[in-house]
Amino acid sequence: MEKYTQYRDRGTGIAPFIPITSATSSFHLPLAAVLFALRAPVLLTISISYFLFLQFMPLGSLFQKGILWICMLVAGVWWVDLQVEGVKRGTLSRYPDKLPSPGSIIASTFSSPLDALYLAATFDPIFLFPSFDTPYVFQLTLFQTLLYTFAPPTSKPYSSKPTTLAEVISKNPHRIIVIFPEGTTSNGRALLRFAPALDSFATQYKQSGENGHGNGTIPKNKIFPISLRYLPSNTTTPLPGSYGVFLWRLLGQPSHTIKVRIGEAVKIRDLEMSDTLVATSSSETITEKTVARSSSGDDANGRVPRVGALEERVGEILVRVGRIRRVGLGVKEKIGFWNAWKAQGRKKK
Ligand SMILES: *[C@@H]1O[C@H](CO)[C@@H](O)[C@H](O)[C@H]1NC(C)=O
Ligand SMILES: *[C@@H]1O[C@H](CO)[C@@H](O)[C@H](O)[C@H]1NC(C)=O
Repeated sequence: MEKYTQYRDRGTGIAPFIPITSATSSFHLPLAAVLFALRAPVLLTISISYFLFLQFMPLGSLFQKGILWICMLVAGVWWVDLQVEGVKRGTLSRYPDKLPSPGSIIASTFSSPLDALYLAATFDPIFLFPSFDTPYVFQLTLFQTLLYTFAPPTSKPYSSKPTTLAEVISKNPHRIIVIFPEGTTSNGRALLRFAPALDSFATQYKQSGENGHGNGTIPKNKIFPISLRYLPSNTTTPLPGSYGVFLWRLLGQPSHTIKVRIGEAVKIRDLEMSDTLVATSSSETITEKTVARSSSGDDANGRVPRVGALEERVGEILVRVGRIRRVGLGVKEKIGFWNAWKAQGRKKK
């Protein structure tokens, strides 16, 4: 494993791309084989009929979500441990605004195909993937999202057209939108560096109008950071192409728990604004007092969020609610890691 030290975070020592392995007792093996043999055909039948026919039928979103829940139940995902930041257990119904609703953006962690399945079954959202080096995003279907979980990061997944978060929102004002800001899967032990798309959603308004003046249309959409973690944690898929291993671990385990943590919603107009008269570099040394003053000012017009402010806020919340660490590695390091891993595999043969 020490060959991959380059892909281990210097600060925390976490290696977010190495798959999680756990000791399997041989006692467990026959049970796993039986569970797998019983579940795989059922899951296969339901998913084929869903992705080939049912998803195109006018059956209503409730029915569609129902089928996805059945898929998860068949796969052994029986427990969803949901906690919403700032809400005591059992009192959630009193705080409907603490949950994503049409027009909300969900910024979710990304470590397993179960992320997309759970989010689709719960929110019926539009899925967006950030390009790793431009401010653009790609809109993928649920099926493509599931496939992309196992794909090495590419600059143009499934030859979809690059678009922006703002554009998708304006075309679909009544949908929930999910973006995976990290852009690629980790093993769930850490939060990766974000691709540029989420942050540029907040700062793009600089470009309209001189110095950010003249356009006060800072979007009102709430951004909900959501952290998804799994127990056991070996169903995460940091390695591209690990379909078989994933299915075996998923279906061979009697049951799985998803830990869902919904963080407090972030609004762009509440972010720390950059003072457009000050050069960007000095905004890093901004004091607590000026931060408080600038974010409480009710005149958000003419000012834009400081570059990096949205990423920092969303990242901070995901790290807090998901109890994980932030690392300095991102999509580019994942590509390097994948190439090194493949080269290593070839040498062994
Ligand atoms: C996955 O992890 C669980 C819990 O540590 C373990 O019981 C199980 O055997 C693992 N599955 C595989 C296929 O390694
Ligand atoms: C402000 O931005 C919105 C959305 O991009 C655009 O439709 C509008 O024309 C802009 N207004 C000005 C004054 O630039």
